[in-house]
Amino acid sequence: MNTSIKTPPQEITKEDYRKVFGTLPTGVTAITGRTEDGKPMGFVVGTFASLSLAPPLVTFCVDKSSSTWPTLRSLKRFTANILSTEQVPVCRALSRKGVDKFQGVDYSESALGTPRIDGSVAYIDCEVLSEVVAGDHYVIVGSVQTMEAAPGKALMFRGGTFGEYDEWPPPTPAPEKQNQGGAK
Ligand SMILES: Cc1cc2nc3c(=O)[nH]c(=O)nc-3n(C[C@H](O)[C@H](O)[C@H](O)COP(=O)(O)O)c2cc1C
Repeated sequence: MNTSIKTPPQEITKEDYRKVFGTLPTGVTAITGRTEDGKPMGFVVGTFASLSLAPPLVTFCVDKSSSTWPTLRSLKRFTANILSTEQVPVCRALSRKGVDKFQGVDYSESALGTPRIDGSVAYIDCEVLSEVVAGDHYVIVGSVQTMEAAPGKALMFRGGTFGEYDEWPPPTPAPEKQNQGGAK
């Protein structure tokens, strides 16, 4: 019997990929920076994640077609603003293209000079450490310079809809085993 025939790999369409990853909730993070003449810039990612504790590193992936990333890359720094459930309008504003995304978005300045968007649940100010090309995206690694958590609930996104994390109640303790009568 010929056992060398292998099943061909599944042809994965963009629809398959989106459907499968539509099962996985992510956080919503605004990556922001400021040009040398002070203009705030930014875009939204669902791919922001922690990467290394010592040294503190973070990562996110950005589409090669991003019009903002080339500028932030050249400035070599960014702030990752973890958005809250109160910031859906900020998410919508920063995930648009080709407009003044910061109109109506309030922010302060981090120690690196990058925008920290008011009302975010955390701010992670980074220098760009490295960038790897991966398919149609760049994988960015940021070296954390300063970071801070703030009050609020993190916004979540899954399959095109927003939501929030819902904690399970702590498990109830198992009832004491009853003496079944026959045991010694
Ligand atoms: C919830 C959410 C998650 C997103 N995640 C990513 C991501 O991880 N990487 C990415 O490149 N774009 C992501 N996008 C799309 C960008 O925010 C969007 O394309 C943005 O307009 C890019 O702006 P720019 O071209 O000005 O850089 C996401 C959008 C939303 C709403």
